[in-house]
Formats: sequence, C-alpha cells, structure tokens
Amino acid sequence: MTNIILLGPPGAGKGTQARRLVEERGMTQLSTGDMLREARTSGTEMGRRVAEVMDRGSLVTDEIVIGLIDEKLRANPEGSFIFDGFPRTLPQADALGALLDRSGRKLDAVIEMQVDDAALVARITGRFTCGNCGEVYHDVTRPTAKPGVCDACGSTDLRRRADDNEESLRQRLMEYYKKTSPLIGYYYALGDLSAVDGLGEMDAVAADIAAVLNGAQKP
Ligand code: AP5
Repeated sequence: MTNIILLGPPGAGKGTQARRLVEERGMTQLSTGDMLREARTSGTEMGRRVAEVMDRGSLVTDEIVIGLIDEKLRANPEGSFIFDGFPRTLPQADALGALLDRSGRKLDAVIEMQVDDAALVARITGRFTCGNCGEVYHDVTRPTAKPGVCDACGSTDLRRRADDNEESLRQRLMEYYKKTSPLIGYYYALGDLSAVDGLGEMDAVAADIAAVLNGAQKP
C-alpha cells in the first residue's frame, strides 16, 4: 500500500497528476474538491451551503471534509491513496494522521508541487473538465484533440468550474497561504516532504513524482 499527499495551490496540477497515478499505478484518487462538487448537486441544505462556500473560494469546514475522507478509507481498507486537496489545514493534517494510524496505514510521501503564482491565473482560467469522466483539459496547454469532445470517453459534456475565475482564485490563494502552506513545515518536520517543480511540462512533472515515489515506500 502506498499513500501520498499532493500539496500545492489551486492550479498547481494536483488533479492532473493524480489522474495519471490512478492510470499508471492503480492508486485511488481522493479529491475532497471532487467529493464536495458531488455533494453540492445533492439538492440538500448541506449541498447548498457547500456550493456557496466553494464558489466564494473559501474552505469548507474541517468536520465535513474529515468525515468524507474517513468514509472513503473505511470503504477501501486495502487501497493505495492519493490525497488530492486534502489536508488543507493543520487540524485536517492531524486528523489524517489519526485516520491512517487507526487503519494501520502509513504516509509514504507528501509531494509539494511548486509553482509560480503568476502562472496560476492562466492555468485556472483556461481549465475545463469532462463532466462524464472527470478528465482535465486546458484551452492552451492541453486542448481536446477534437473540439468539444472528451479524448478519454467521447462525451461532449465539457464544463468550466464556477470558482474558476480571477476573483475566486484570489480568495483560494489567500486561503492557501493562510491555512494550507503551514503544512509544508508540518510535513517537513515529520520527514515526509519532497518538492517537485510543478511548472514543467506535464510529462516532466510526472517523471519527477515517479522518482519521489520510487524511492519513498516505507516498510
Ligand atoms: P479543489 O477542487 O481541491 O481545487 P484546488 O485546490 O483549488 O485545486 P484545483 O483543482 O483548482 O487545481 P489542481 O492543482 O488540481 O490543478 P489541475 O490539475 O486541475 O477545491 C475546490 C474547493 O473545494 C476549495 O476552494 C474549497 O472550497 C473546497 N475544498 C476542497 N478540499 C477542501 C478541504 N480539504 N478543506 C476545505 N475545503 C475544501 O490543473 C489546472 C489546469 O492547469 C488544468 O487546466 C490543467 O490542464 C493545467 N495543467 C496542469 N498541469 C500542467 C502543466 N504541468 N503544464 C501546463 N498546464 C498544466
């Protein structure tokens, strides 16, 4: 079992690289952002509140996201996980440590994807995803081969996220620097942190992550 965290600001490429690891290594991607986007379409009062918080670019409460992760870990005791967008606060990091301990798992690596803030606006405002299979594209750096059609599944349901605009991105960045970036020091102190250059070509970033993983699995 291998368990890793992809850590980085909005648009760093966490989701893009997590999907590759799913395909190449059979790991399971646990994206709290994807789980919350699913919850917001549930039509419940909780879903409505989650939608409002996400569109603003703020963080959903620790209790909700820890509960979502707990459920997924219980449902798949043998899985190897990529935590994508979780943890995002120190209480979430402590909770993840406790959840992993409880299930006899270890964290093998925390990979910080380092990017220049100036690149993030272009990444976020050009992003679109497939509503059917979740494949991630970009107007410039990763367009679909055939306009309007997902390369992976052939769906024409290509979408842009409600929070992918400059105003919401600024708030998401502020949340990242205030609440999530302290996790870099936290995981450094635990001896789990590695950094990769997230500004490179997607294949180069994937190769750097693979190099970390190949040297990281704990007994
Ligand atoms: P979430 O969905 O996690 O969004 P995020 O962290 O803001 O990250 P993104 O999905 O925007 O970016 P990414 O790093 O995955 O980049 P991607 O690979 O898509 O969270 C959304 C919201 O949910 C939060 O704001 C919050 O409200 C809530 N939430 C989620 N988790 C939470 C938690 N734990 N606690 C509390 N609240 C939580 O890439 C971006 C674009 O760049 C794509 O178009 C891609 O094609 C392109 N790209 C990627 N890599 C490269 C490359 N190397 N070169 C060129 N282009 C690239």
